[in-house]
Amino acid sequence: MRNPILGVLGGESQARPPIWMMRQAGRYLPEYRAVRAKAGDFVTLCLTPELAAEVTLQPIRRFPFDAAIIFSDILIVPYALGIKLWFEEGEGPRLEPVATEAAAQAMRRDLDRNVVTRVYEAIGRVRADLPKETALIGFCGAPWTVASYMVAGRGTPDQGPARKLAGSDPELFQAIIERLVDATAEHLIGQLDAGADFLQLFDTWAGVLDDQAFEQWCVKPSAEIVRRVRAKKPDAKIILFPKGISVANMEKIVAACGGDAISIDMQADRKAVRARLSDRCAVQGNLDPDILIEGGPALDRAIDAILEDFGGIRHIFNLGHGIKPQTPIENVERMIARVKG
Ligand code: CP3
Repeated sequence: MRNPILGVLGGESQARPPIWMMRQAGRYLPEYRAVRAKAGDFVTLCLTPELAAEVTLQPIRRFPFDAAIIFSDILIVPYALGIKLWFEEGEGPRLEPVATEAAAQAMRRDLDRNVVTRVYEAIGRVRADLPKETALIGFCGAPWTVASYMVAGRGTPDQGPARKLAGSDPELFQAIIERLVDATAEHLIGQLDAGADFLQLFDTWAGVLDDQAFEQWCVKPSAEIVRRVRAKKPDAKIILFPKGISVANMEKIVAACGGDAISIDMQADRKAVRARLSDRCAVQGNLDPDILIEGGPALDRAIDAILEDFGGIRHIFNLGHGIKPQTPIENVERMIARVKG
């Protein structure tokens, strides 16, 4: 039996859309919090294959999702390039900033195998335990989003430090992006080799760039990554998630990359996306994670609106962004039941 998400990515539309959820392994699950506490810190959890595989499988044991996503983080790539990475409890990621020529030169040229083979081993473990009808997703951050954390050394409200560096020293910024293009293509291919069925490229901060910067720092690097992955893996299926962009820019990035699907956030204009993109690629999204917290009739109405707007096209049901830690588990159950009909 073919996995329904792979079916949609391959060109079929389904009567009911397949479903998975960004951040489906995470803090809203008590069993995740227990493993996280045992691991101690987040990077250790990501890089201990047995634990990463366990938390990847947790949501699959609870819910009939059509895919699991390997538990890791987009910042494991800079970590594998030799950049210090840690997570401040209750705050978020911290990295040793890469904002000077010297720091950029000090990055490794290749991925540290000691780091990435742990991800591949976790993928192998998940593959062995995953129901055969469930797909496994590999992923990376897109270069712009990953670079934006590297330059600031942390998340910021609008990734201003990276936007500033890209404007004031485009050669340096380009050098960082090129290193990330190499590393990202290699890591995506590594995940496919390890057993991932398809890929998602997260560009969470695409929406803070103007059109020209979007073309330079999101479209070009992402297109180059897809080209390199497909050169090695001609059948690779890739979902793009350039968050917060206009429909015109969605058309640009899908055309340039040849993405198999575009994942849209909760602000996206569904009718415009349907009209202008659905004949070129599948569409993934876009339930508001805050409505998932609220639940009840408001949740039902929001789900029905999405199902109606995307009825008959190639659609993968998902959130507009990751599930939040305070989300009640019964709302996730309610969502899946309603989507599956
Ligand atoms: O989706 C999944 O279930 C797979 C695992 C996954 C994580 N992060 C685990 C995680 C994936 C695909 C990501 C992607 C990621 N990581 C992105 C892109 C998508 C997005 O959500 O915007 C970004 C920007 C990051 C970087 C990152 N990691 C931040 C900014 C944070 C802190 C904010 C937060 O939500 O806590 C993380 C931490 C993180 N990554 C957690 C999880 C489950 C929470 C860590 C914890 O357990 O304390």
